[in-house]
Amino acid sequence: MATTKKTRSRTQFRCTTCGAGTPVWAGRCPGCDEWNTLAEESVLPRTAEVRTPPTSRALPIGEVPDRDVRPGATGVGELDRVLSGGLVPGSVTLVGGEPGIGKSTLLLQAAAGVAATGRRALYVTAEESAPQVRGRAARLDAMPDALWLASETDVGAVIAHLDDVEPSVVVVDSIQTVHDPDLSSAPGSVGQVRACAHRLVEEARSRNVAVVLVGHVTKDGGLAGPRVLEHLVDTVLSFEGDRHHALRLLRAVKHRHGGTGELGVFEMTGTGLAGVDDPSALFLSDRRPGTAGSVVVPILDGGRPLLVEVQALLADSPLPTPRRQTQGIEGGRLGMLLAVLEQRAGVSVAGQDVWVTVAGGVKTAEPAVDLAVALAVTSAVTGTGVVPDLVACGEVGLAGELRQVGHLERRMAEAARLGFGRALVPERAPDPPAGCRAMRATDLAGAIDAAGLLDGPSVRLAGAG
Ligand code: TYD
Ligand code: MG
Repeated sequence: MATTKKTRSRTQFRCTTCGAGTPVWAGRCPGCDEWNTLAEESVLPRTAEVRTPPTSRALPIGEVPDRDVRPGATGVGELDRVLSGGLVPGSVTLVGGEPGIGKSTLLLQAAAGVAATGRRALYVTAEESAPQVRGRAARLDAMPDALWLASETDVGAVIAHLDDVEPSVVVVDSIQTVHDPDLSSAPGSVGQVRACAHRLVEEARSRNVAVVLVGHVTKDGGLAGPRVLEHLVDTVLSFEGDRHHALRLLRAVKHRHGGTGELGVFEMTGTGLAGVDDPSALFLSDRRPGTAGSVVVPILDGGRPLLVEVQALLADSPLPTPRRQTQGIEGGRLGMLLAVLEQRAGVSVAGQDVWVTVAGGVKTAEPAVDLAVALAVTSAVTGTGVVPDLVACGEVGLAGELRQVGHLERRMAEAARLGFGRALVPERAPDPPAGCRAMRATDLAGAIDAAGLLDGPSVRLAGAG
């Protein structure tokens, strides 16, 4: 059978969700009907006989040259902590976060920190102008001589700058705004983002330079495009926080050169991001102890225990289906806890709107906050505050039982450190450290009673505060 040999590369589009291919771009994938999932890819036709010459030699593992994988500190303490020491030469790190959260600020500080140690750092800005970035660096007092700045959007030109500057660390801000002019899709599209990242990953490997890519994340958590980058890069950091709060949390979602257990805590100040040494104290600084509907819980974020305040508020609902709104915890978890409260502890919120928030813009998916949420709601129902020096921690089961959670000792130690003298915990919890007394309960009803929310020696508040 005769076949026509094609030599020109052709372009096709592939769905990033279902993998279906199509020769022309469409807004909606013909395979799975998802919108905006088609990404451009360049396909070189291959025949079975073609062998690509190897670009490297396979070697017995003992003969493979050893590479320097020691991290180089950036001097930004909280960032280095999350990175298990710093940026590893030849590695690629993606920093994702919502626009305005402080990614550019963080990485400018990190690049300056690297440069301050004499290693050359290149900051490529593809969003702001170079004078704009210079202005910010001046305000941050982050202008060491070894910090170089380039304003560039063409990925090929970014690589040319690497030839010129020969930095040990390069920051590309952002990966969505650099593009490859050889591809026809628009800058910021999935195909562009992936192709540019791919080229930068290759440069990182071949030059042994640490590459940091900034990626914008949309409100619903999806990296606009960079989702597809997560497997390309070595490390994925997520920079979070409420833009309206000064607090910022930095986590490693993936890290090939260390653990993902650390949490970095920053505060956005007038002169850039400052590391927070005592996050628990910061989270609790605006608390009004004894207010009805407020309960403090020691959560564990990364490996770090943090005391946060859970708040609940109720109001008579004008709606046939009252609102259940949460901030910082999952809505579904609140629904479950309200059902358990009603069925197992006789606490009803029927006909009332319920709001539950974790103060300070903290988000947690830990079951360990169940008890605090349930107590906060009960406290809001009864209008009675819990004693000010109480923390509560435990998972609540569907039968209303209190279940053990991990690392209670560390959580209670953190509570004791901040002057909380009582810890309301599941029956089989370990003994608390000195200075903290354990109040044990087997179920939710018992915990509500122990917290003094029914009749006990709690602080009664009229008008709170
Ligand atoms: P930026 O780093 O530009 O965010 P991103 O790159 O994630 O979009 O920071 C944005 C916000 O940070 C901006 O609203 C101003 C604020 N900010 C400060 O409060 N203090 C500072 O020193 C700096 C540089 C920024
Ligand atoms: Mg920015």
